[in-house]
Amino acid sequence: MGQETIVLLSHRELDKMRQAGRFAAELLQRLEPLVKPGVSTLELNDQVERWTQEYGAKSAPLGYHGFPKSICTSVNEVVCHGIPSAKQVLKDGDIINIDVTPIVNGYYGDTSKTFFVGQPSPTAKKLVEVTKECLSRGIAEVKPGARIGDIGAAIQEYAEAQGFSVVQDFVGHGVGRDFHTPPQVPHYGKRGKGLRLRPGMVFTIEPMINEGTWEVKVLADKWTAVTKDRKLSAQFEHTLAVTEEGVEILTL
Ligand code: MF3
Ligand code: CO
Ligand code: CO
Repeated sequence: MGQETIVLLSHRELDKMRQAGRFAAELLQRLEPLVKPGVSTLELNDQVERWTQEYGAKSAPLGYHGFPKSICTSVNEVVCHGIPSAKQVLKDGDIINIDVTPIVNGYYGDTSKTFFVGQPSPTAKKLVEVTKECLSRGIAEVKPGARIGDIGAAIQEYAEAQGFSVVQDFVGHGVGRDFHTPPQVPHYGKRGKGLRLRPGMVFTIEPMINEGTWEVKVLADKWTAVTKDRKLSAQFEHTLAVTEEGVEILTL
């Protein structure tokens, strides 16, 4: 992907992204008390859709390449793109990634986090904590002049040192006036390689970290991606802007 295809956002556009990002973060915050044993993933979806409409925003996933719902709900061995369903009721010990992307005044805010449902197992707790730290370490690499490969390297080094693996089939992405744009942001890689970061670039970092194998499989519904060994997977995502000073997290 040539550098010339990367969109740089103006200060005015970054302000719009801040608004979208803040609302996306607020959706996850408001969900927190609802993520309890007994709730279905469809109820979570419908609540986010109501809040989004109230705000005058739109849910980007709904109808995106045919995706049928407003959010992604990825439980336990589901890596990403889980489809909310009335039949899927959360139970004590589950982990669930909820990924929201509202469109606010034409700009996309993309963020996700993994929640504990009730009491997590020690393994689940460690995986989720390590995945959150992977996102932090990736973000810490972002500044003008750094390379895309620095982000992936930082994430991969930490995840593997903790005994976990990094999903390769799904990557972070440019985001702004569109949902998914260049550059691709792998969560693995080599320091000093890849695109050089410049102020005004806006992209996500969204590591998916697995308990066992990094390999994934997409189910017959064409969306739900699961770990090949059906062990746990966790994910955290923020939308970020490269600034003159370093990095701004837009989805806080
Ligand atoms: N929000 C996801 C991401 O982080 C994309 C979901 S696309 C959908 O890029 F169609 F599955 F909703
Ligand atoms: Co994303
Ligand atoms: Co997302």
